[in-house]
Amino acid sequence: MKIMVINGPNINMLGTREPEIYGSLTLEDIINEINDYAKTLGVEIETFQSNVEGEIVTSVQKAKNDCCGIVINPAAYTHTSVAIRDAIAAVGLPCVEVHLSNIHNREEFRKNSLTAPVCIGQIAGFGANSYKLGLKALVDFIKSA
Ligand code: DQA
Repeated sequence: MKIMVINGPNINMLGTREPEIYGSLTLEDIINEINDYAKTLGVEIETFQSNVEGEIVTSVQKAKNDCCGIVINPAAYTHTSVAIRDAIAAVGLPCVEVHLSNIHNREEFRKNSLTAPVCIGQIAGFGANSYKLGLKALVDFIKSA
């Protein structure tokens, strides 16, 4: 079973980006953690990060070829992107939205997610752990479907 893990804009800046909010791990550290965890779950992951909305849309579409589901942190596009929302809806793969920070206890504009309604669920506020929790939830969902 293969799962696509997608990260949106500025997630490549983790480690130095507002560490008081996003922590001190880099994206590479987080991917290494997810990879190790994926092995314990018996699944394979493919990772993709882009600062460009259309590239994220394309990666969601490509997941349809050989992945059973998607873990996505759309980052700032969470709050703005009809295109990413429509891509998730179009491919019809089960998708879990994850955030490092708790988007619900921050600025008002972060509280709304355009993408969460087309996902099976959202996990926010657990730092890098959000990805592992999201992956576990997704794999359990797929296995029980
Ligand atoms: C984020 C939350 C978003 O509001 C923000 O734009 C990000 C990161 C998170 O993981 O906490 O870039 O998705």
